[in-house]
Amino acid sequence: MTTTLITGANKGLGFETARRLVEAGHTVYVGSRDAERGRRAAERLGARWVLLDVTDDASVAAAAKTVEADGGLDVLVNNAGIEERTETNAVTGAAGTTADLMRHVFETNVFGLVRVTHAFLPLLERSAAPVVVNVSSGLASLAAASSPGSPAYAYPGVAYPASKSAVNMITVQYAKAFPGMRINAVEPGYTATDLNGHTGTQTVEEGAEIIVRMARLGPDGPTGGYFDARGPLPW
Ligand SMILES: NC(=O)c1ccc[n+]([C@@H]2O[C@H](COP(=O)([O-])OP(=O)(O)OC[C@H]3O[C@@H](n4cnc5c(N)ncnc54)[C@H](OP(=O)(O)O)[C@@H]3O)[C@@H](O)[C@H]2O)c1
Repeated sequence: MTTTLITGANKGLGFETARRLVEAGHTVYVGSRDAERGRRAAERLGARWVLLDVTDDASVAAAAKTVEADGGLDVLVNNAGIEERTETNAVTGAAGTTADLMRHVFETNVFGLVRVTHAFLPLLERSAAPVVVNVSSGLASLAAASSPGSPAYAYPGVAYPASKSAVNMITVQYAKAFPGMRINAVEPGYTATDLNGHTGTQTVEEGAEIIVRMARLGPDGPTGGYFDARGPLPW
């Protein structure tokens, strides 16, 4: 039996990933920073839930204790993420980007991901087939961001793509450090969720496809890569 934790799984891509992995037979923990939202999501899914705010050391440590006491972890999906937008759903461009804005986005997308990974590594190391999926973004790609005509080139924000480029580097470094684990970054594609005010052009079913595929990798699968549903992406 494979046990899987998905951070930020009470809605959006995380929720859909949880639904699909429950269907595939995983024992799934819905990570949620809000007790009520977490409990409700888990009930709908037939999953377990655990209180987990990725920005809070004590919350993450308590979640790791709970999962460990219940028997451990095989798959970690680092999905929780934010994209700073204004009240009118606009992305803050370079001129408006402050250190505080960067820190706010990095606190969840980067430091949160490292905080959770660090706390759950001892559990993953005890698994026979440990897997980590880091939910990145196509906007993380330096190659795409510097290629005129691509969506990443047109995107004006600084904090969000920079945070996801950091996630990509973190993925590569962890993958080298833990060759026994499958550790990959994924780009779900532009998906209609609360994150972007439902402007995304894909459904959550389409977006979750690559997250689910990489969460189900066997020990012979790739590691240290960056993928969307069509295959490897340029860094
Ligand atoms: N949608 C897209 O087009 C797209 C494209 C590429 C990558 N992504 C990435 O996909 C992931 C999921 O995003 P989504 O589109 O599904 O967005 P979403 O619907 O807004 O879901 C984000 C999830 O993250 C949770 N979260 C935020 N801050 C958290 C924290 N401090 N601790 C724990 N959970 C926290 C949210 O919880 P609350 O309900 O409590 O806020 C929510 O469950 C993100 O990493 C995002 O960057 C999305």
